[in-house]
Amino acid sequence: MSISHLAYTEDVSSSTIVILDFGAQYTQLIARRIREFNVFSVVLPCTAPLEQVRASSPAGIILSGGPSSVYDQDAPKADPMLLQLGLPTLGICYGMQWMAHRLGGRVEPADKREYGDAEVTVEQQNRLFAGLPATLQVWMSHGDSVIEPPAGFSVAASSHNALSSIADESRGMYAVQWHPEVAHSKQGTALLKNFVLGVCGAKADWTPESFTQSTVETIRAQVGDGHAICGLSGGVDSAVAAVLVSKAIGDRLTCIFVDNGVLRKGEFAQVQKNMREKLHLNVVAVDASNRFLSQLGGITDPEMKRKIIGREFITVFDDEAAKILRAQDASGDVAHDDTGAEVAWLVQGTLYPDVIESSSVNGPSHTIKSHHNVGGLPENMKLKLIEPLRDLFKDEVRRVGADLGMPQEVLERQPFPGPGLAVRIVGEVTPERVAILQNADEIVGAEIKKAGLYRSIWQSFAVLLPVKSVGVMGDQRTYAYTCAIRAVHSDDGMTADWAPLPYEVLRTMSSRIVNEVRGINRVVYDITSKPPGTIEWE
Ligand code: XMP
Repeated sequence: MSISHLAYTEDVSSSTIVILDFGAQYTQLIARRIREFNVFSVVLPCTAPLEQVRASSPAGIILSGGPSSVYDQDAPKADPMLLQLGLPTLGICYGMQWMAHRLGGRVEPADKREYGDAEVTVEQQNRLFAGLPATLQVWMSHGDSVIEPPAGFSVAASSHNALSSIADESRGMYAVQWHPEVAHSKQGTALLKNFVLGVCGAKADWTPESFTQSTVETIRAQVGDGHAICGLSGGVDSAVAAVLVSKAIGDRLTCIFVDNGVLRKGEFAQVQKNMREKLHLNVVAVDASNRFLSQLGGITDPEMKRKIIGREFITVFDDEAAKILRAQDASGDVAHDDTGAEVAWLVQGTLYPDVIESSSVNGPSHTIKSHHNVGGLPENMKLKLIEPLRDLFKDEVRRVGADLGMPQEVLERQPFPGPGLAVRIVGEVTPERVAILQNADEIVGAEIKKAGLYRSIWQSFAVLLPVKSVGVMGDQRTYAYTCAIRAVHSDDGMTADWAPLPYEVLRTMSSRIVNEVRGINRVVYDITSKPPGTIEWE
């Protein structure tokens, strides 16, 4: 099976900023800030060959921070020729130290580590500091410091502790010891804007509209007369990816949506309706719930549940995809390559963080996730991968979706895990337990929406615990399950804080669940943040 990638951004913008990643935890943030100016930015590992950097025709280069010292044995290094390309360059933290070190300046461990909020005084009015105050509120995190700038550079700013910025205006080369991409650096966004728009002269022409237009054209040109298939999850990413592809090739895109038996109440019907009526997608809906639930029978181990659901999904998806592609082949309208083999396309909603992750200096260069979904398709079926969102962050996906006219209801859905309610039923997953949890979860969702909290909360849902306790209803003794309510605030799901839901909302949820859901007689609220907890219970 062959997988190939399309490049979506080639003609999107004439003004790309290349960010070289030296391993900082904030590198993605630099990329996002720049994109907020409607300028396209790419993150490459610092080890990227010069040719790869040149291939982006960058308007400028940013060297990110990183945890190392330039004197460490295994300190991350970039090709020093980068500094001779004649391109505007901004070094940030480690990027400043590496740049100064390579160009012959002096870098030394500082007496005192600078960490946290600091003030720096601007000593040179240059283009980087245009319009900024003489004293900047910045956020620092560094051990080494530049003691002496390289030849041609002068000191542009200092903190009471150390030299904080150097510049060679004539070459458009600047460096700052602090992190302008972090919100704590008050004038950080303005400084990055000065560099990107002022020094690099990048054009602010990378918008959702330009992205959509160029992506649709690229897909149309590449797919030609071919067909594409797309697995819908009901979530934002796969929906936006499908709409982009369908805009390019119309109903030669077939979407597959599988009921795995652990969807939320009414979700199988609702997603189909949305995708067909609101997004005008060609959807094949497969009810495989019995198959999934029977495989899950007797299983209590969380990892086993995930594995079973993943494996079954691949089997069902592959069967359906093969059926669709064979039917199209029989009608004679599937494209063939030079060898006569079928060429079909598989659409995946892969996002930029996954792409960066798999090629970063930190990350293992593991195979991209999407391969998992194509595991069992016949060898002669040459599937090529279309990943129209592989250059985008999550919030950009939502902006593209809005530009495509997709309804807010689809774009603002809270994340929902692939293994669905199975990881929210502690212990064995049975059809009865799924039905109980669906009913409780529907109440949690409805009350969150009624209170106007749905959009401000990252995820809110019910969990079914296999713990039975004694209760009393009317004159009757009850002995039934416990329901936990989970609601968290988060930016990206990596960390989360439990949400302080108003007591009134909790009161209504609890009373409605106990009164309306047969099988639950006790409700508890989960007040665990992540870490140390996880968002899902399993
Ligand atoms: P945890 O529970 O690890 O979840 O704190 C973090 C985020 O990831 C979602 N999640 C998943 N999403 N497949 C998915 O597509 C999965 O197997 C999966 N497990 C967790 C979870 O809902 C939260 O947003």
